[in-house]
Amino acid sequence: MAVSLLVRGCGRVSRTFRSRGWNQLHTVYQSAELPETYQMLRQTCRDFAQKELIPIAGQLDKEHCFPGAQIKKMGELGLLAMAVPEELGGAGLDYLAYAIALEEISRGCASTGVIMSVNNSLYLGPLLAFGSQEQKQKWISPFTSGDKIGCFALSEPGNGSDAGAASTTARPDGDGWVLNGTKAWITNAWEASAAVVFATSEKSLKHKGITAFLVPMPTPGLSLGKKEDKLGIRASSTANLIFEDCRLPKDSVLGQMGLGFKIAMQTLDMGRIGIAAQALGIAQAALDCAVDYAEKRMAFGSPLTKLQSIQFKLADMALALEGARLLTWRAAMLKDNQKPFSKEAAMAKLAASEAATRIAHQAIQILGGMGYVTEMPAERHYRDARITEIYEGTSEIQRLVIAGHLLKSYRS
Ligand code: CAA
Repeated sequence: MAVSLLVRGCGRVSRTFRSRGWNQLHTVYQSAELPETYQMLRQTCRDFAQKELIPIAGQLDKEHCFPGAQIKKMGELGLLAMAVPEELGGAGLDYLAYAIALEEISRGCASTGVIMSVNNSLYLGPLLAFGSQEQKQKWISPFTSGDKIGCFALSEPGNGSDAGAASTTARPDGDGWVLNGTKAWITNAWEASAAVVFATSEKSLKHKGITAFLVPMPTPGLSLGKKEDKLGIRASSTANLIFEDCRLPKDSVLGQMGLGFKIAMQTLDMGRIGIAAQALGIAQAALDCAVDYAEKRMAFGSPLTKLQSIQFKLADMALALEGARLLTWRAAMLKDNQKPFSKEAAMAKLAASEAATRIAHQAIQILGGMGYVTEMPAERHYRDARITEIYEGTSEIQRLVIAGHLLKSYRS
């Protein structure tokens, strides 16, 4: 798959990767720029976004249309299972590569970015980390090519940030389990062929009673709620999963009984790197749009870019974007080197999502009236950016996570 990712993009990239080996990693800080191999990956993804996503992103958004053909092509390129080993059908790359690729895809289309992110980190991530060999064969391999995608069901109508308060129940029944309850805000819900679902088998145990289950979709006892009509990322579906006496076999448990909350938290650590990268892509697209417009638009006898007030805005936008990108790459590199990265992933998501919102806001300010109409993509970037401060942990939750780690380090 790694080969297909690279060959499809550019033959030269493929040869470079093979001769140098993918795992000669992380000279980023030493050389102050990305190693050549990652730059080539970035160019491959940028070219894909330019050709396949940018021309249709506005239409997909307008029509709330899932980008099925593009997802299939991304699967063929290896973009839907980037950190999955090649023997399981993945690209066999790492999280730095994932962050770079996801930024470029999101720069082209933020909806496509979140679809890619959920399949890579929220669905395949926990399977790779906690699945048995049999589960990996069954639940990972078919989800690497773009034919099938997965989703992740943690939040509920009554609890989002308080993930430990899950009230969807898992009752033992003969040789299996019966699930009842509703999961909310599930990205990819309408297109998914499987879900990682969190349910409690003993509510009094609070988070320690939660277990992760692997659920095929569709399956008897599981129905989908309406497609949510959202502010942004409208080409990706979001809906409830409703469980009514949904029977699952015994081997549906992912990891161990009672380990679900930790699986969810570790998965979200990975997911937050993905959402940070998605936010970077949205922010970059907004900055691109603002610069392009400011270069062409005349005011007071010269292009907008000659005005200091516009230059100050552009400088602040670029600064916020670059800082957030470095935090994102750092979190990814820590993960790739098996170092703790929970705090850094929270920092990356917080910085990148808030930067994206601010940058998209300023892009509209630079475009003026043209930023407010759908003729230009600035208003879509503004709408798309907003969710990155909410899903996979709100900005407030990221601050809690960061402060928790910070205070612990002072106390130890
Ligand atoms: N990795 C591993 N274990 C972790 C962990 C992590 N990152 N964070 C916490 N834990 C462990 C703790 O060590 C603790 O373990 P013990 O019981 O052994 O002591 C246990 O989990 C409980 O930890 P806390 O007491 O810190 O848990 P809490 O109930 O106070 O919650 C929280 C902490 C940070 C607020 C957490 O609930 C959280 O992250 N909430 C946000 C949930 C979220 O991001 N939801 C988004 C859903 S996905 C989505 O957006 C949909 C989509 O499709 C995109």
